[in-house]
Amino acid sequence: MRELAALHSIRRRALHQPRVAVVLGSGWDRLTDHVQDAVCIPYSELDGFPKVTVSGHSGMLWLGHMGTTQVAVMSGRKHGYENGDVDVMKVPLSVLNALGCDVLVQTNAAGSLRPDMPSQSLMLISDHINLPQRSPLVGESGSERFVNMRDAYDPALRALARASAKERGLDLHEGIYVWAFGPQFETPAEIRMLCQLGADAVGMSTVPETILARHAGMRVLALSLITNMGAGLSNEQLSHAHTLAQAQASTDVASGLLADIIGRIQIPAT
Ligand code: HPA
Repeated sequence: MRELAALHSIRRRALHQPRVAVVLGSGWDRLTDHVQDAVCIPYSELDGFPKVTVSGHSGMLWLGHMGTTQVAVMSGRKHGYENGDVDVMKVPLSVLNALGCDVLVQTNAAGSLRPDMPSQSLMLISDHINLPQRSPLVGESGSERFVNMRDAYDPALRALARASAKERGLDLHEGIYVWAFGPQFETPAEIRMLCQLGADAVGMSTVPETILARHAGMRVLALSLITNMGAGLSNEQLSHAHTLAQAQASTDVASGLLADIIGRIQIPAT
């Protein structure tokens, strides 16, 4: 099994016992500055880990700790829009779960659907809308595949994130993330529809990984870094370069907050 091969490769390289897995999206790469005593393994040495092709994503697994929390940080993810597969993160997440991670922290860049949430805002995801209605669990058997998606984004972890932001004097919005398949950005008409559906931010990732993590029984926390207003809500011209530039401008603040949150996650003893 690919999971076993990757697990052995990691165990050969590092004795760490991570309890929190982190997936870094665009603009969140500086979080790795906060990984102490780090061991870094390129995905290319880990069977079943994705080949990362999107610029701004590096393709490295970092093992170490943040405060007292042992972490495994995936710097770079694969998206459904890259080749149509929505289960590309299945092997990496099941490897990290087998290594001992029972929390998944996800990060992404997203477009805002709310006038009070401009570019460079931070949004804690409280729930999501799976607009493409695609699932990485298709093909699974057994009754565990019928995953309960209520409180998919763990209420206690969200409270911890709010408390940490408050202490740092940072505004942390909270809202609903809608998954748009991409890779093209939305049309203004689609953005108007997404606003009417009740979403607060739109992006091209995160939802499949949340479903996989909940299937594995992991608790999930997810944060969006707002890089633009949704198409048609402002005059900015959307492009990947614009997303990366906006994300870069707030990466230090966002990563500092997230490192603080991760360092405070209470992990039950095994
Ligand atoms: N739409 C979809 N994905 C995104 C956006 C957006 O406006 N901004 C960053 N990721």
